[in-house]
Amino acid sequence: MSAPFITFEGIDGSGKSTQARMLAESLRAAGRDVVLTREPGGSPGAEEIRTLLLTGDPGRWSAETEILLFTAARRDHLEKTIRPALAAGQTVICDRFADSTRIYQGTTRGDLRATVDSLHALMIGREPDLTFVIDMDPEVALARGLARRSGEDRFEEFGLDFQHGLRAGFLALAASAPARCQVIDGNRPAEVVAADVLARVHAWP
Ligand code: TMP
Repeated sequence: MSAPFITFEGIDGSGKSTQARMLAESLRAAGRDVVLTREPGGSPGAEEIRTLLLTGDPGRWSAETEILLFTAARRDHLEKTIRPALAAGQTVICDRFADSTRIYQGTTRGDLRATVDSLHALMIGREPDLTFVIDMDPEVALARGLARRSGEDRFEEFGLDFQHGLRAGFLALAASAPARCQVIDGNRPAEVVAADVLARVHAWP
């Protein structure tokens, strides 16, 4: 298998960051050269944009401004981290990518999917090879996300209805791209979810 670009997506508190880390550890233990990264962030410039996006008042940015900031961060991440790693034959595992913009800004914050798609085509133009959508009960996930008190709660502050909307969006997106997206039941112990994910990576072409 050539080195793939794998992403994890899901609502806030779905456990996708844990799963991204566990997959990276398993593949490294098996001798694979893995870059584990995240969005927004994953390069010094994009990490600075992350702070702008995830802290402060929920109304700090409009959905349109968010699309521009997330895409700017993604472009830097792609240039500085993702493309060089894939070119060097490293497996890239990324905690969130363009699907998050499609769902958070494109369909849940507003009816802006066409704007998100245009900007993606213009500035990013790259999809992951494989995407795991970690599906999770929004009530459990939101309680877990808020309990972390990470200081990066701007999107959790939009509330439970918002998380339900996100979940529906991610499931619809996965159904529309079945060759790339696999939905994983995240309502199980982390080790069980991780074994499921690893088996699917091994089964991937
Ligand atoms: P996380 O590191 O906890 O996943 O936080 C990232 C937050 O940013 C999360 O609430 C989802 C949000 N987000 C978007 O709204 N659009 C995006 O394109 C990305 C990458 C993240």
